[in-house]
Amino acid sequence: MSDVFFAPSDGLRGVVTAPPDKSISHRAALLGAMSTGTVRITNYLHAQDTTSTLDAVRRLGAKVEASGGEIVVSGVGLDGARSPGGPIDVGNAGTLMRLLPGWLASQEGRSFEIDGDESIRGRPVDRIAEPLARMGAVIEATDGRYPPFVVRGTPLRAISYVLPVASAQVKSCVLIAGLSADGTTTVTEPAPSRDHTERMLAGAGVRVLRVGADISLSRASHLDAQDLTVPGDLSSAAFAIAAALLVPGSQVLVRDVGVNWTRAGFLQIVRRMGASIGGELEVVPAPGAPVATSEPICDLEVQAGPLRGTTVEGGEVPLAIDELPLVALLGCFAEGETIVRGAQELRVKESDRIAGVVDGLRGLGATIEATEDGFVVTGGGGLRGGTIDALGDHRMAMLGAVAGLASREGVTVLGMDAAAVSYPGFEADLAALA
Ligand code: S3P
Repeated sequence: MSDVFFAPSDGLRGVVTAPPDKSISHRAALLGAMSTGTVRITNYLHAQDTTSTLDAVRRLGAKVEASGGEIVVSGVGLDGARSPGGPIDVGNAGTLMRLLPGWLASQEGRSFEIDGDESIRGRPVDRIAEPLARMGAVIEATDGRYPPFVVRGTPLRAISYVLPVASAQVKSCVLIAGLSADGTTTVTEPAPSRDHTERMLAGAGVRVLRVGADISLSRASHLDAQDLTVPGDLSSAAFAIAAALLVPGSQVLVRDVGVNWTRAGFLQIVRRMGASIGGELEVVPAPGAPVATSEPICDLEVQAGPLRGTTVEGGEVPLAIDELPLVALLGCFAEGETIVRGAQELRVKESDRIAGVVDGLRGLGATIEATEDGFVVTGGGGLRGGTIDALGDHRMAMLGAVAGLASREGVTVLGMDAAAVSYPGFEADLAALA
């Protein structure tokens, strides 16, 4: 475990390219494995989480080759997953753990055991086991709820499923299972969440319909996944953006950021806080518009300046779920109160991100209180500095680093190596800007 000190910084300057999107990389590899042909993926994320996905699809029979900076996946088809002959290790990757069973549940006569690291063993899978069981799948989880768990493949029937939480992982799992289910599968979202799976399936020739909060698809004979370029990850870019907003005198250009509207909540929130961020975000599509088949990107010009507090309510939470810890950090420097509500999902991420953020930032001098479903920050005082524990969570590690640059005395992050789960080049990128 590596402990790293981040000193207070002078203004950040320069250009940084956002690392490839983690959510989209996972999906691209999975859909490639499920398709019948060969898919070239440009700008695939090479990080611990997405390497777990390549390893998993290889174990299931897909061919994965690296060629000239691209990843080429030759799939086994919707019903062709091979028995891996031992547990599939998803490492720390919650998205892999929750999307993969959607495919495996329909593999008749084959069983698959899924396990992961210590953090994964504490993350609930009942949220996918429940709808999959309704489709006829057999899932045996530890204590009925946790990994390791076994998926036994069986014919599936379509369901209409109202998501109890706005989770893109659960939505994606049910839609992927729906590709092999008898009938039309419909998922109803309580609020929009990231729609990368829908876009990619539509791009692979599946008729995906969105009517209001309902997303439907029917059994597909095969997937015709298209070659794909992964956009930059806004969730990773958000750390450089936050640093540039907080360190006085900063001016940073962040290149090639994915600005799909279902992901761009963080940018909307910080603009509301008064942040200067140039760049054109995707507009929310009109009701009834067909599901898009591509992902928009743009360059973002970020400049430091004063911020004011804001309130983030439940409907906005899924659009910024992984960036909410950064909203807390920005809140420490903003005038007035910053409040996040309806974000109880943060408690079941790679760590309990409400407890971790509140205890961590308070240890650095913040005035912040936890609530059941979020936090309240009283801003204006900035941060003194000190030590923060990443708790094995990549986003907590990077939060601590940014806090250090913006603090008065600097911050030591315990367990900085966790950043490699999603952003192995993080420290180098930050250093280049400082
Ligand atoms: C993800 C969805 C979100 C997010 C996670 C990635 C995805 O989780 O927090 O980092 O790729 O679908 P939930 O869908 O559980 O909210």
